[in-house]
Amino acid sequence: MSLNQYFETHKERFLDELLEMLRIPSISADPAYKSDVAKTAEYIKENLITAGAENVEVCPTNGHPIVYGEKIINPELPTILVYGHYDVQPPDPLDLWESGPFEPVIKKTEIHPDGAIFARGSCDDKGQAFMHIKAFEGMLATDSLPCNVKFMIEGEEEVGSVHLGQFCEDNKERLACDMILVSDTSIIANDTPSITVGLRGLSYIEVEVTGPNRDLHSGVYGGAVANPINILAKMIASLHDENNHITIPGFYDDVLEIGSKEREAMNQAPFDVERYKKNLDIGNVHGEKGFTTIERTSIRPTLDCNGIWGGYIGEGAKTVLPSKASAKISMRLVPNQTSDKITELFQKHFESIAPESVKVKVSPHHGGEAAVTPTDTSEYQAAFSAMKEAFGKDPIPVRGGGSIPIVALFEKVLGVKTVLMGFGLNSDDIHSPNEHYGLFNFYKGIETIPHFYKYYTELKTQS
Ligand code: BES
Ligand code: MN
Ligand code: MN
Repeated sequence: MSLNQYFETHKERFLDELLEMLRIPSISADPAYKSDVAKTAEYIKENLITAGAENVEVCPTNGHPIVYGEKIINPELPTILVYGHYDVQPPDPLDLWESGPFEPVIKKTEIHPDGAIFARGSCDDKGQAFMHIKAFEGMLATDSLPCNVKFMIEGEEEVGSVHLGQFCEDNKERLACDMILVSDTSIIANDTPSITVGLRGLSYIEVEVTGPNRDLHSGVYGGAVANPINILAKMIASLHDENNHITIPGFYDDVLEIGSKEREAMNQAPFDVERYKKNLDIGNVHGEKGFTTIERTSIRPTLDCNGIWGGYIGEGAKTVLPSKASAKISMRLVPNQTSDKITELFQKHFESIAPESVKVKVSPHHGGEAAVTPTDTSEYQAAFSAMKEAFGKDPIPVRGGGSIPIVALFEKVLGVKTVLMGFGLNSDDIHSPNEHYGLFNFYKGIETIPHFYKYYTELKTQS
């Protein structure tokens, strides 16, 4: 049986198996779901074993486990390490989901006329990681696996991959490989394939502003005592100037400016700002002066408040001058900026702009470095050829705005480059209510992956 025939024959089962995994709420951020995260790891382990992987193991960490598996057909041949994550973001706000986040349903949409799977994790990243297991199953079953493969599917990506660095350090030999293949990013459109050639870094911080030592009557004290919510709002607002530049001193010092030629090239990528606005129901786009939307979401660093709270938010009105206000703030970083340095600059600046009337506490969360993946390598060439064969079109190199901090870490610890060959769409609502993943994308991914193995092995064994 040919690989295509195998995929055609087992299509329905692949989907059913994915839906079963999507029913397990593997929310890594919430300790209440610890056993569901573990259950998902077991599910992946079983699937890898059934597909034909060897030495499959659910490796415990101090957090959620990492699933490992491998198939070494000949140590002389190249080895691809597939990385993915089976944990998902919390699904809230729940009331904005049209169907349960862990009750997957298939629905047609304008962008996905063949149907899309609606469930948390369908695109990010259970659905995309699962494509790799099914592609591997097919290659083994049809005797067409051309090289060695190792799988490392983790359960803590959405909470900063805190234990993955140590795991890589401790398992250098087991993880030895020629490259890392990741499907956890997007393409421009289903008829416009692209390959992600860069990711932004991240610096995530929580701040707390304290005014008086207790909540006060806003009439008795209001006007004479600093309201921490008013102050915090003003402090956050001051982090951007009228051109939407970030005002933290030194913030841009290490930013690599991109040459005009490269900027011109990146702005050639298909992008329809009117459709973008309509899709998001916004009157206009907004961002750093002097840069296009494509640039603002890829080569420029940003600062966003992710959440803000304090005071009374219950039913009705309560006249209170609260004691505390808090916010979560993230900064997306670009190559050459370092997460630790930016966190420090933020902390210093934020403390310096606080008036004497309040106290400020700045607590750093996780961070990670940006990554750029070169295009003049056999890895990129193989991804290019694979996508071209599957989509019938040359893929476009695109720098992504999201972050996968382990990409920089893999290079540092394992000394290997990553290829980001993802199949989602930016409109798939990852991290949002009604996350979905196109059936077209799921099957196209399964079809493309073996092409990648083939081209990569050819290129590596030639040289
Ligand atoms: N898969 C995403 C990252 C992504 C999405 C990159 C789309 C490019 C295009 C990943 O799961 C993710 O959400 N990462 C987090 C960072 C992490 C440290 C929590 C992110 O980017 O917010
Ligand atoms: Mn992801
Ligand atoms: Mn994610």
